[in-house]
Amino acid sequence: MNGHLHSAHLRLGVNIDHVATIRNARGGLHPCPLRAAELAAAAGADGITIHLREDRRHITDDDLIRLSGAISLPINLEMAATDEMLAIALAYRPHAACIVPERRAERTTEGGLDAAGQHNTLQPIVARLQDAGIRVSLFVAPDARQLEAAARLGVPVVELHTGPYAHALAQDDVAAELARLIRAADIGAALGLEMHAGHGLTYDNVAPVAAMEQLAELNIGHFLIGEAVFVGLEAAVRRMRAAMDEARS
Ligand code: PXP
Repeated sequence: MNGHLHSAHLRLGVNIDHVATIRNARGGLHPCPLRAAELAAAAGADGITIHLREDRRHITDDDLIRLSGAISLPINLEMAATDEMLAIALAYRPHAACIVPERRAERTTEGGLDAAGQHNTLQPIVARLQDAGIRVSLFVAPDARQLEAAARLGVPVVELHTGPYAHALAQDDVAAELARLIRAADIGAALGLEMHAGHGLTYDNVAPVAAMEQLAELNIGHFLIGEAVFVGLEAAVRRMRAAMDEARS
Protein backbone atom coordinates (compact mmCIF):
# COMPACT_ATOMS: atom_id res chain seq x y z
CA MET A 1 0.00 0.00 0.00
CA ASN A 2 1.13 3.44 -0.86
CA GLY A 3 0.54 5.73 2.11
CA HIS A 4 0.38 9.07 0.39
CA LEU A 5 -2.04 7.87 -2.27
CA HIS A 6 -4.23 6.26 0.36
CA SER A 7 -4.96 9.51 2.13
CA ALA A 8 -6.11 11.31 -1.05
CA HIS A 9 -9.66 12.62 -0.97
CA LEU A 10 -12.12 10.13 -2.43
CA ARG A 11 -14.78 12.07 -4.29
CA LEU A 12 -18.43 11.23 -3.83
CA GLY A 13 -20.72 11.65 -6.81
CA VAL A 14 -24.36 11.52 -5.72
CA ASN A 15 -26.67 10.05 -8.32
CA ILE A 16 -30.06 11.77 -8.02
CA ASP A 17 -31.93 9.77 -10.70
CA HIS A 18 -34.33 8.26 -8.21
CA VAL A 19 -35.50 11.59 -6.88
CA ALA A 20 -36.89 11.94 -10.40
CA THR A 21 -38.27 8.38 -10.24
CA ILE A 22 -40.37 9.36 -7.22
CA ARG A 23 -41.44 12.63 -8.83
CA ASN A 24 -42.43 10.86 -12.04
CA ALA A 25 -44.63 8.43 -10.12
CA ARG A 26 -47.11 11.31 -9.89
CA GLY A 27 -46.03 13.38 -12.83
CA GLY A 28 -45.71 16.71 -11.02
CA LEU A 29 -42.70 18.69 -9.86
CA HIS A 30 -42.10 17.20 -6.41
CA PRO A 31 -39.61 15.99 -5.24
CA CYS A 32 -37.33 18.25 -7.24
CA PRO A 33 -33.95 16.88 -8.43
CA LEU A 34 -32.49 20.38 -8.35
CA ARG A 35 -33.25 20.68 -4.66
CA ALA A 36 -31.70 17.23 -4.16
CA ALA A 37 -28.53 18.39 -5.91
CA GLU A 38 -28.32 21.45 -3.66
CA LEU A 39 -28.81 19.38 -0.50
CA ALA A 40 -26.24 16.82 -1.64
CA ALA A 41 -23.77 19.64 -2.24
CA ALA A 42 -24.42 21.08 1.22
CA ALA A 43 -23.81 17.63 2.72
CA GLY A 44 -20.40 17.20 1.10
CA ALA A 45 -21.02 15.64 -2.31
CA ASP A 46 -18.29 16.43 -4.83
CA GLY A 47 -20.41 15.93 -7.91
CA ILE A 48 -23.90 15.17 -9.16
CA THR A 49 -24.47 12.17 -11.39
CA ILE A 50 -27.54 11.75 -13.60
CA HIS A 51 -28.45 9.16 -16.19
CA LEU A 52 -30.58 10.47 -19.03
CA ARG A 53 -32.02 7.23 -20.31
CA GLU A 54 -33.41 6.65 -23.74
CA ASP A 55 -36.89 6.15 -22.23
CA ARG A 56 -36.55 9.13 -19.80
CA ARG A 57 -37.87 6.98 -17.00
CA HIS A 58 -36.32 9.21 -14.34
CA ILE A 59 -34.18 12.22 -15.30
CA THR A 60 -35.59 14.22 -18.21
CA ASP A 61 -34.03 16.62 -20.69
CA ASP A 62 -35.58 19.45 -18.72
CA ASP A 63 -33.86 18.23 -15.53
CA LEU A 64 -30.51 18.22 -17.32
CA ILE A 65 -31.09 21.73 -18.63
CA ARG A 66 -32.14 23.10 -15.24
CA LEU A 67 -29.32 21.36 -13.37
CA SER A 68 -26.75 22.55 -15.90
CA GLY A 69 -27.69 26.15 -15.34
CA ALA A 70 -28.14 26.09 -11.61
CA ILE A 71 -25.71 23.97 -9.64
CA SER A 72 -22.13 24.65 -8.68
CA LEU A 73 -21.02 21.01 -8.53
CA PRO A 74 -19.68 19.28 -11.63
CA ILE A 75 -22.27 17.17 -13.46
CA ASN A 76 -21.44 13.65 -14.54
CA LEU A 77 -23.88 12.62 -17.28
CA GLU A 78 -24.31 8.89 -17.69
CA MET A 79 -25.26 8.19 -21.27
CA ALA A 80 -25.65 5.44 -23.80
CA ALA A 81 -23.39 5.58 -26.84
CA THR A 82 -26.08 6.85 -29.19
CA ASP A 83 -26.30 9.79 -31.59
CA GLU A 84 -29.18 11.23 -29.58
CA MET A 85 -27.24 11.27 -26.32
CA LEU A 86 -24.10 12.54 -28.01
CA ALA A 87 -26.03 15.51 -29.38
CA ILE A 88 -27.47 16.25 -25.93
CA ALA A 89 -24.07 16.01 -24.24
CA LEU A 90 -22.55 18.33 -26.84
CA ALA A 91 -25.40 20.80 -26.34
CA TYR A 92 -25.22 20.96 -22.53
CA ARG A 93 -21.54 20.14 -21.97
CA PRO A 94 -21.52 18.40 -18.62
CA HIS A 95 -18.16 18.31 -16.82
CA ALA A 96 -18.01 14.57 -17.41
CA ALA A 97 -19.82 11.92 -19.43
CA CYS A 98 -19.83 8.30 -18.38
CA ILE A 99 -20.72 5.98 -21.22
CA VAL A 100 -22.87 3.10 -20.03
CA PRO A 101 -24.55 0.22 -21.82
CA GLU A 102 -28.31 0.60 -22.00
CA ARG A 103 -30.91 -1.99 -22.74
CA ARG A 104 -34.41 -0.69 -22.74
CA ALA A 105 -35.94 -3.46 -20.63
CA GLU A 106 -33.37 -3.55 -17.86
CA ARG A 107 -34.28 -2.27 -14.41
CA THR A 108 -30.91 -0.55 -14.05
CA THR A 109 -27.53 -0.74 -15.76
CA GLU A 110 -26.96 -4.47 -15.62
CA GLY A 111 -23.52 -5.10 -17.05
CA GLY A 112 -20.46 -3.13 -18.00
CA LEU A 113 -19.85 -1.61 -21.39
CA ASP A 114 -18.13 -3.87 -23.90
CA ALA A 115 -15.33 -1.41 -24.61
CA ALA A 116 -13.27 -4.16 -26.19
CA GLY A 117 -15.96 -5.41 -28.59
CA GLN A 118 -17.34 -1.97 -29.44
CA HIS A 119 -14.15 -0.07 -30.12
CA ASN A 120 -15.25 1.16 -33.54
CA THR A 121 -18.66 2.35 -32.32
CA LEU A 122 -17.25 4.08 -29.26
CA GLN A 123 -14.22 5.70 -30.84
CA PRO A 124 -15.99 8.55 -32.71
CA ILE A 125 -18.32 9.26 -29.79
CA VAL A 126 -15.43 9.42 -27.33
CA ALA A 127 -13.52 11.67 -29.73
CA ARG A 128 -16.39 14.13 -30.16
CA LEU A 129 -17.06 14.34 -26.43
CA GLN A 130 -13.38 14.89 -25.70
CA ASP A 131 -13.07 17.51 -28.44
CA ALA A 132 -15.86 19.38 -26.65
CA GLY A 133 -13.82 19.36 -23.43
CA ILE A 134 -15.98 16.74 -21.68
CA ARG A 135 -14.12 14.31 -19.45
CA VAL A 136 -15.13 10.87 -20.69
CA SER A 137 -15.33 7.73 -18.64
CA LEU A 138 -16.44 4.22 -19.54
CA PHE A 139 -18.43 2.07 -17.13
CA VAL A 140 -16.88 -1.38 -17.36
CA ALA A 141 -16.62 -4.67 -15.54
CA PRO A 142 -13.42 -5.12 -13.49
CA ASP A 143 -11.74 -6.97 -16.31
CA ALA A 144 -8.23 -6.41 -17.72
CA ARG A 145 -9.46 -6.71 -21.30
CA GLN A 146 -11.96 -3.90 -20.84
CA LEU A 147 -9.41 -1.66 -19.12
CA GLU A 148 -6.92 -2.17 -21.93
CA ALA A 149 -9.68 -1.36 -24.43
CA ALA A 150 -10.52 1.82 -22.50
CA ALA A 151 -6.87 2.85 -22.58
CA ARG A 152 -6.78 2.20 -26.34
CA LEU A 153 -9.82 4.45 -26.76
CA GLY A 154 -7.89 7.20 -25.03
CA VAL A 155 -10.39 7.98 -22.26
CA PRO A 156 -8.95 9.51 -19.07
CA VAL A 157 -11.34 7.74 -16.69
CA VAL A 158 -12.87 4.32 -16.13
CA GLU A 159 -15.66 3.53 -13.68
CA LEU A 160 -15.59 -0.01 -12.35
CA HIS A 161 -18.95 -1.76 -12.02
CA THR A 162 -19.31 -2.71 -8.37
CA GLY A 163 -22.72 -4.38 -8.87
CA PRO A 164 -21.48 -8.00 -8.79
CA TYR A 165 -19.56 -7.23 -5.56
CA ALA A 166 -22.52 -5.41 -4.01
CA HIS A 167 -25.01 -8.13 -4.92
CA ALA A 168 -22.89 -11.15 -3.99
CA LEU A 169 -24.39 -13.07 -1.07
CA ALA A 170 -21.95 -15.83 -0.11
CA GLN A 171 -18.83 -14.62 1.70
CA ASP A 172 -16.60 -16.39 -0.82
CA ASP A 173 -18.27 -14.58 -3.68
CA VAL A 174 -18.00 -11.21 -1.92
CA ALA A 175 -14.27 -11.83 -1.40
CA ALA A 176 -13.76 -12.96 -4.99
CA GLU A 177 -15.59 -9.93 -6.43
CA LEU A 178 -13.64 -7.60 -4.15
CA ALA A 179 -10.39 -9.19 -5.30
CA ARG A 180 -11.44 -8.63 -8.94
CA LEU A 181 -12.10 -4.95 -8.18
CA ILE A 182 -8.73 -4.53 -6.46
CA ARG A 183 -6.87 -6.18 -9.34
CA ALA A 184 -8.74 -4.06 -11.87
CA ALA A 185 -8.07 -0.85 -9.94
CA ASP A 186 -4.36 -1.68 -9.99
CA ILE A 187 -4.36 -2.55 -13.69
CA GLY A 188 -6.29 0.60 -14.59
CA ALA A 189 -4.02 2.83 -12.56
CA ALA A 190 -0.97 1.21 -14.15
CA LEU A 191 -2.49 2.03 -17.56
CA GLY A 192 -2.70 5.68 -16.45
CA LEU A 193 -6.49 5.70 -16.07
CA GLU A 194 -8.23 7.63 -13.31
CA MET A 195 -10.29 4.99 -11.57
CA HIS A 196 -13.86 5.46 -10.34
CA ALA A 197 -16.34 2.87 -9.08
CA GLY A 198 -20.02 2.55 -8.43
CA HIS A 199 -23.31 0.66 -8.45
CA GLY A 200 -25.10 -0.93 -5.52
CA LEU A 201 -22.95 0.66 -2.84
CA THR A 202 -24.43 1.05 0.67
CA TYR A 203 -23.22 1.96 4.17
CA ASP A 204 -22.59 -1.75 4.73
CA ASN A 205 -20.52 -2.55 1.66
CA VAL A 206 -18.78 0.75 0.85
CA ALA A 207 -15.76 0.46 3.18
CA PRO A 208 -13.64 -2.12 1.31
CA VAL A 209 -14.23 -0.22 -1.95
CA ALA A 210 -13.50 3.19 -0.43
CA ALA A 211 -10.28 1.78 1.02
CA MET A 212 -8.85 1.07 -2.46
CA GLU A 213 -6.14 3.65 -2.85
CA GLN A 214 -6.36 3.67 -6.65
CA LEU A 215 -9.94 4.95 -6.66
CA ALA A 216 -10.58 8.68 -7.03
CA GLU A 217 -14.40 8.72 -7.05
CA LEU A 218 -17.45 6.68 -6.09
CA ASN A 219 -20.87 7.23 -7.63
CA ILE A 220 -23.74 6.28 -5.36
CA GLY A 221 -27.45 6.74 -5.93
CA HIS A 222 -30.25 4.31 -5.21
CA PHE A 223 -29.28 3.49 -1.64
CA LEU A 224 -28.83 7.15 -0.69
CA ILE A 225 -32.19 8.20 -2.09
CA GLY A 226 -33.89 5.27 -0.35
CA GLU A 227 -32.19 6.12 2.92
CA ALA A 228 -33.17 9.76 2.47
CA VAL A 229 -36.82 8.70 2.86
CA PHE A 230 -36.00 7.81 6.47
CA VAL A 231 -33.30 10.24 7.57
CA GLY A 232 -33.25 12.98 4.93
CA LEU A 233 -30.87 13.36 2.01
CA GLU A 234 -28.32 15.52 3.80
CA ALA A 235 -27.99 13.06 6.68
CA ALA A 236 -27.70 10.11 4.29
CA VAL A 237 -24.99 11.82 2.22
CA ARG A 238 -23.11 12.90 5.35
CA ARG A 239 -23.12 9.39 6.73
CA MET A 240 -21.88 7.93 3.42
CA ARG A 241 -19.19 10.61 3.26
CA ALA A 242 -18.09 9.70 6.80
CA ALA A 243 -18.02 5.97 5.97
CA MET A 244 -15.83 6.68 2.95
CA ASP A 245 -13.48 8.93 4.93
CA GLU A 246 -13.18 6.39 7.72
CA ALA A 247 -12.31 3.63 5.25
CA ARG A 248 -9.53 5.80 3.83
CA SER A 249 -8.04 6.97 7.10
N1 PXP B 1 -22.42 4.32 -11.73
C1 PXP B 1 -23.07 4.01 -12.88
C2 PXP B 1 -22.29 4.04 -14.14
C3 PXP B 1 -24.44 3.71 -12.88
O1 PXP B 1 -25.07 3.42 -14.03
C4 PXP B 1 -25.15 3.76 -11.66
C5 PXP B 1 -26.62 3.50 -11.65
O2 PXP B 1 -27.27 4.45 -12.41
C6 PXP B 1 -24.44 4.10 -10.49
C7 PXP B 1 -23.08 4.35 -10.56
C8 PXP B 1 -25.12 4.22 -9.17
O3 PXP B 1 -25.64 2.98 -8.78
P1 PXP B 1 -26.62 2.92 -7.56
O4 PXP B 1 -27.83 3.72 -7.91
O5 PXP B 1 -26.89 1.46 -7.43
O6 PXP B 1 -25.90 3.49 -6.37
